[in-house]
Amino acid sequence: MIEINKYDKIIVANWKLNGSFAFIKDYFKTLNSTTINSNVCGIICPPSSYLQNCYLNMDKSLFLGSQDCSNYKNGAYTGDISSAMLKDNDCKFCIVGHSERRQLFSQKNIDIMEKSNNLIQEGIKPIICIGETLEEKKNGNTEEILKEQVINSIPDNSSNCDIIIAYEPIWAIGTGLTPSIDEINKIHYFLKTGIEKYQNFKILYGGSVKSNNSSEIMNLDYVDGVLVGGSSLDPVEFSKILNA
Ligand code: PGA
Repeated sequence: MIEINKYDKIIVANWKLNGSFAFIKDYFKTLNSTTINSNVCGIICPPSSYLQNCYLNMDKSLFLGSQDCSNYKNGAYTGDISSAMLKDNDCKFCIVGHSERRQLFSQKNIDIMEKSNNLIQEGIKPIICIGETLEEKKNGNTEEILKEQVINSIPDNSSNCDIIIAYEPIWAIGTGLTPSIDEINKIHYFLKTGIEKYQNFKILYGGSVKSNNSSEIMNLDYVDGVLVGGSSLDPVEFSKILNA
């Protein structure tokens, strides 16, 4: 079982719907030549069909993660992949509740809680994504929205050893926009201290992280790492982030 609290930084590559066998071969040829500091937990989340191929190609100082999993354990759920299947595929982490899954595939907090429960039972750490829309931010509702997402998507009986939270403002994903450095730190401080029962969880920031802003973001007192989409597809760029 991985002890997430022993790492200073957790850095996640979310490939989304990208990759191929040829891409994976080239990607790890470059990334595997990077030495990853032992206080950094580096996680690669490819599409599910490439989990095993990534596992075979990647340096074993990195961990494998999935981008989602089923709410169900088995049965008539065409197209789904269960947490036990992810475990069989050497997954140690799984992103759940990404805003693209919430918005495009109608996943609700209750789905995210069920997925997280199933993952924890298999010894996989859920990386639970939360975040506000631009409208919610403009209306001054960010903290209220995040609190509601935390309370309703994190299983009651879980602890900061089982789960990682990723704060991803929806308006920052893939746009090149980010909150200010002070705003990121303030929101992470709120998430770490302001919600009863869910204190001191590891909290990652996600949304337009690149090699030129990753070290400033990761050096913030209340930020425990980053979740990287677009920039994780370039192994040179991602290795700079791993070493930021
Ligand atoms: P981005 O995506 O880095 O491309 O903004 C982040 C994410 O969606 O996890």
